Amino acid sequence: MDNRLDILQGYKILTLTFREVPTHRLEELVLSNDLEGELFGRLELMKKHLGLDEIFYLHTCNRVLFFFYGNQEPDINFQLRFFRQINPALTEDQFNFLADKVKLLEGEQAIHHLFEIAASVDSMVVGEREILRQLRTAYEECALQGTTGDYIRLAMQQAVRSAKNIYNNTRIGEKPISIVSLSIKALLERNPKATDKILLIGAGQTMNLVCKFLRKHNLKNVSIANRTLDKARKLMNGFSGSAMNLEDLENYKEGFDVVFACTGHSSSWINGELYSKILKGDTDRKTVVDLAVPTNFKPEVSQGFNMDYIQVEDLRKIARANMAFREKEVTAAKAILKTQFDTFKDTLEQRQIEKALKTIPAQVKAVKEKAMEEVFKKDLENLDENSLALVHRMMDYMEKKCVAIPMKTAKKAIRK
Ligand SMILES: NC(=O)c1ccc[n+]([C@@H]2O[C@H](COP(=O)([O-])OP(=O)(O)OC[C@H]3O[C@@H](n4cnc5c(N)ncnc54)[C@H](OP(=O)(O)O)[C@@H]3O)[C@@H](O)[C@H]2O)c1
Repeated sequence: MDNRLDILQGYKILTLTFREVPTHRLEELVLSNDLEGELFGRLELMKKHLGLDEIFYLHTCNRVLFFFYGNQEPDINFQLRFFRQINPALTEDQFNFLADKVKLLEGEQAIHHLFEIAASVDSMVVGEREILRQLRTAYEECALQGTTGDYIRLAMQQAVRSAKNIYNNTRIGEKPISIVSLSIKALLERNPKATDKILLIGAGQTMNLVCKFLRKHNLKNVSIANRTLDKARKLMNGFSGSAMNLEDLENYKEGFDVVFACTGHSSSWINGELYSKILKGDTDRKTVVDLAVPTNFKPEVSQGFNMDYIQVEDLRKIARANMAFREKEVTAAKAILKTQFDTFKDTLEQRQIEKALKTIPAQVKAVKEKAMEEVFKKDLENLDENSLALVHRMMDYMEKKCVAIPMKTAKKAIRK
């Protein structure tokens, strides 16, 4: 068998993702880690009890993944022991559920899966770079705590390289998918000026994200109205307008060019009367972005006033089209992954050779010393000072060259 395949076979992944189960069932495979540092202690215990060489753990809202290296046969007994490490009180029902749903991948398949995760080809939202950041952070922590070693390091390095290659050479991460980024894009397409007055209605999570984008694009003439005034005040950081209570909205006198509305009311509540009060007679065309579901603006406002009205339903249509575009890029991404996998096999082989050759310098040195101090000792004693110095220089030269030969030859063989 190809030696590289032998080494590859040690890589394994045991995972549960949004593809196999609803996301709340991912919990079944999550390692509890209530205490600081407990997670790594548990990973160390898993290594010890399961006889693994290395282990890496990733938990996101869409997947739980154990990536490990070891030579165990991952049969049903191994799985049972694995699941017991995660949950010592595992019931038969839980075991049957996990055994049925968990994906176990070995060798080439495991590496391909890791590369696909890093490149966000296997994500719920294809092309979402966040997963690469999560993967790197989780790896850095595991590496720091010593649960991983050389094998996982090499695989992670190549996974990150191939993900970057894919983001640079395909359009998988282009075209926004999130409703908030699409709403900002729609606003930017209308060329807002830095001095434009922006009124935000609501100060929840969605509006938090809107604020980040506004700051990023230097749109800071912002006022915020919210039911809880304190939350509006907190969001004002970096903005030049004012914070107000929702009830004071009708008294707002500063005027506006753009409105973002996103409150959790159970029905549309901004009617023509309220909107007229906020307008205070201003007849200029406004940009109104309504991110709430159901919409905050009543149809009488969106249809009866001079405005560009952007609502979630329209943005969702764009998001779907953009997602379809990203998914088409998956074919190109997979072709790149294939070449990256071949590179990884070469790297793995080179590393094995490096490890095997590590002892050569010491061996060559020992041969030299034996020659000088035992085999040719008497002959050397008869040499004059200059000749002896020359022999030393020649032996040092030979030692250096002999050490380099095997490494060079091995590298040439890999390149072929
Ligand atoms: N477009 C999207 O992609 C998207 C994504 C998620 C959510 N949404 C929609 O956005 C809205 C808010 O979502 P969110 O994630 O920002 O929620 P959130 O973090 O819970 O914030 C809710 C916001 O609405 C306000 N609010 C809730 N009920 C209210 C009421 N009865 N009267 C007055 N104010 C009220 C809250 O005020 P307090 O601060 O006083 O609590 C807060 O400002 C919802 O309609 C949701 O369906 C849209």
